[in-house]
Amino acid sequence: MTQHTRAEIDQLMEASLAALRAPSILNSQPWRWRTRGPDVELQLDPDRRLPGVDPAGRLMMMSCGAALHHALAALAGAGYAGDVDRLPAGARPDVVARVRLGPAVPPDRSASAAINRRRTDRRPFADVPPSDRDLSALRAAAHRHGVALQILRADQVDAFADIVALAGAAEREVPAYTRDVAEWSDRARTSGDGVSLADVSASGPYRVPPRDFALDRRPGLDPGGGTDRGTVYAVLVTRGEDRADWLAAGEAMSDVWLTLTARGLAASPISEVVEVPQAAAALRRLLGWTGHPAIAFRIGRPGDPTPPPPSTRRAGTDVVGLPGDP
Ligand SMILES: Cc1cc2nc3c(=O)[nH]c(=O)nc-3n(C[C@H](O)[C@H](O)[C@H](O)COP(=O)(O)O)c2cc1C
Repeated sequence: MTQHTRAEIDQLMEASLAALRAPSILNSQPWRWRTRGPDVELQLDPDRRLPGVDPAGRLMMMSCGAALHHALAALAGAGYAGDVDRLPAGARPDVVARVRLGPAVPPDRSASAAINRRRTDRRPFADVPPSDRDLSALRAAAHRHGVALQILRADQVDAFADIVALAGAAEREVPAYTRDVAEWSDRARTSGDGVSLADVSASGPYRVPPRDFALDRRPGLDPGGGTDRGTVYAVLVTRGEDRADWLAAGEAMSDVWLTLTARGLAASPISEVVEVPQAAAALRRLLGWTGHPAIAFRIGRPGDPTPPPPSTRRAGTDVVGLPGDP
């Protein structure tokens, strides 16, 4: 390997390590990175499937999309373009993307600087809603990936809350679902994955409450002083519903989230609405059949100036292979 290629691989490995901080369904981190010649390959990790929550693998693919976008944001921050082949033709089905170092470009830290500050903030948000400029920036972030971000009108929020409640109630009746949530929200401290009950708040003045991770256990996050009155609800909508659409939705989700973090806003996703087919259909109807809802978000100004603690991650050596690793 030439010196030049080794430096390129190092840059790509650093970007894959930065992508450890990407959000993922139940913090399952369902990906791994492997070097293949001059590329790093992003692969689905089949051992991290969630058969109850995500039988089709949609949220797993979206999580990989978020990791891919985080890696590309890290490369842009270091002053490199990434040359990406998404779902490469003829590759094994677990191969999500191949990334090669592109040309040097002026460093753009607008997204990479937000990677370590981004959190899932499930607490009630503040009184004052995000500004119109904020919302335009978020729509533009989704649009960069061919995905629409539909912000719900105030008169749609009650119907949306009903759909989320319907999805939550339906899921609680499905043993495979509750098994996944219980398993991934009560992990050994050393596992480096899963949702900690310390990141989930018990109650608050929510119009649309976050997912019930606790399932009769005790959540540990202080909800803070937010009223949740300024919270807006948004849905990422794709044109189709295949793996490429889910991957694009994941990249859009990451872009929207890093963009809102950079603007001082906070968010938490609501994916129950796409996990339950009847809820997804009701949401499509609410949105006027404009496309396929990929995920919903609650977005607001933080109700509390102290961010929630960072959630755990696996060690880089568990996720990113060295050159020569199978
Ligand atoms: C595809 C996807 C779906 C998610 N769905 C939910 C959800 O329904 N409710 C929720 O509170 N968090 C949801 N999350 C957030 C994850 O739980 C969170 O990213 C993970 O626990 C890591 O925490 P962090 O985002 O603070 O780093 C989702 C994340 C992804 C990528």
